[in-house]
Amino acid sequence: MMSTTTYVQRRGELETYFDRTAAQAWARLTSTAKVSRIRETVRTGRDSMRNALLDRLPDNLCGRRLLDAGCGTGAFAVEAARRGASVLAIDLSANLVEIARDRLPADLGGGSIEFCVGDMLDPALGEFDHVVGMDSLIHYAAPDMVDALERLSARTSTSLLFTFAPKTPLLALMHSLGTLFPRGDRAPSIVPVTEAKLTSLIASRPGMTAWRTQRSQRINSGFYISQALELVRK
Ligand SMILES: C[S@@+](CC[C@H](N)C(=O)[O-])C[C@H]1O[C@@H](n2cnc3c(N)ncnc32)[C@H](O)[C@@H]1O
Repeated sequence: MMSTTTYVQRRGELETYFDRTAAQAWARLTSTAKVSRIRETVRTGRDSMRNALLDRLPDNLCGRRLLDAGCGTGAFAVEAARRGASVLAIDLSANLVEIARDRLPADLGGGSIEFCVGDMLDPALGEFDHVVGMDSLIHYAAPDMVDALERLSARTSTSLLFTFAPKTPLLALMHSLGTLFPRGDRAPSIVPVTEAKLTSLIASRPGMTAWRTQRSQRINSGFYISQALELVRK
């Protein structure tokens, strides 16, 4: 399966955005440093989302290989490794991966993290028990998001957890007001999609017939609205 031009173009925009334009803002948002009230709601929402995703994984991940797809500054990878997982954490942004490396706690219990810079869809990354993409597919158009899921699923034995931006009237309004991100950040837009459209697109893919949607959870915290979907093998 080839990557579409829209995927490749968006990937390039995201690399520029997360590696340069927003790298500092992103490093701060994902730290404990003081941030604006608006960003505080985003931070709180993201903490809840990380926990919601972790809740869908076994408490004991010893011996499991997990891909943190679009790991950013590495918070999810650290939690998964603390449960014993062998984590491969990959991101397009070399700067964010460097921050993730700097923030790595000395003690990860029995787990480990290998950091990489590159595309989460690279087949050379190998096979996984679980793949987690927290807010890393939200900027891709729905067909490209589903292509990515299909490609990842072919290399995943147990579950695929990812988030999407639910298309809600409030979110549409916030987008139209341009209040989600400060103008100066020039963020590539988030592409909202309804759960119904996403699940029907997933069901229409030949590669996804062995998978079913297990659970969906929406986190709504001020300026952070994101929804988790879990796909498991039938
Ligand atoms: C909104 S951030 C979330 C980061 C992290 N998952 C978290 O929740 O803190 C999205 C991340 O996905 C990464 N990303 C987007 N597309 C990617 C791709 N195709 N391969 C690897 N990383 C990607 C971006 O570089 C960015 O760091």
